[in-house]
Amino acid sequence: MSIIKANSYNIYIGEKSFDALNTFLNKNKYSHYYILCDEHTFEFCLPTLLFHAPLLNEAEIIELESGEDKKTLETCLQVWGALTDTGADKKSLIINLGGGVISDLGGFVASTFKRGIDCINIPTTLLSMVDASVGGKTGVDFEGIKNHIGTTAEPKGIFVNPTFLETLSERQIKNGFAEIIKIALIADDVFWKTIMKLKTTKEFSSEKIITKAIELKNSIVKKDLHENNLRKSLNFGHNIGHALESALIKQNKDVLHGEAIAAGMIMESEIAQSLKRISKKEQKEITDYIRSIYKNIKITKDTESQLLKYILHDKKNEGDDLCFALPKGIGAYELYCGVSIDLIKKAISNY
Ligand code: GLY
Repeated sequence: MSIIKANSYNIYIGEKSFDALNTFLNKNKYSHYYILCDEHTFEFCLPTLLFHAPLLNEAEIIELESGEDKKTLETCLQVWGALTDTGADKKSLIINLGGGVISDLGGFVASTFKRGIDCINIPTTLLSMVDASVGGKTGVDFEGIKNHIGTTAEPKGIFVNPTFLETLSERQIKNGFAEIIKIALIADDVFWKTIMKLKTTKEFSSEKIITKAIELKNSIVKKDLHENNLRKSLNFGHNIGHALESALIKQNKDVLHGEAIAAGMIMESEIAQSLKRISKKEQKEITDYIRSIYKNIKITKDTESQLLKYILHDKKNEGDDLCFALPKGIGAYELYCGVSIDLIKKAISNY
């Protein structure tokens, strides 16, 4: 098992993370346990968790409907209601068993219930293992804007068990792998060279790769929890990718976060190359690798105009400046403010 030290808690990775969970539960003497899950983690992950952590057999199970469209204040009302009706107090623990929707929403509910109760994350998707569950960003979508209402509140522990990935589809593994590609490109050129050799989804989600990706993200979050500077680097691929994801979801198109971010990284690499942050050769290396894993996303004229609207409203931008986190060479980043709309349009048309 690997143990990574975060600001005020530990991240345990490996099959033995259940032992660490039992030690944590025995030490902390919570008054009530609440396990937040969705229909998938209820079926595929909860039985394993209860088998390995017998103390949790007394937990209240709160099952939510899965899906980003359920990451809303209405769902929070449901959870706050269930906590209240069952007598949750300040010493209760929320256990987020699921992907990013569960940890974002569960973390938000925990950070606001009675002005904050403890929560821990047991991520069950690759995306939540390497990104969503790490770093204390919590929240829900509001009026169609992703993560518009939320808090920064770190969990008391993260317990990552890669065996949960065995029931995930290849598409879901690739969904999480996009964030692994991102962290390598902005933070570690040696890791980039390592992942470029990976071909199968089994390799994409090995414990070693997950551990390295979490280590890199954690070291960034530790230095800049509130995203004043360095943490902005994690937005590479997300200015365009996030906007593309929102535009496609609005049109009821089937797209996953990582697929949109992969496309976003291709387009933002083009911008980085135009601004001489990376060479043509590096741009080709990035683009060829991403294209070898992800299918092309069709961007119609309608999608493009919707996407540009989202970019202009994005909370990643400061004032009137469009600020993009771009790679500077491979394995480093630079926040570049003043990306023009023309440059974005050119990157979209060349995608
Ligand atoms: N997912 C980006 C961040 O945690 O900052």
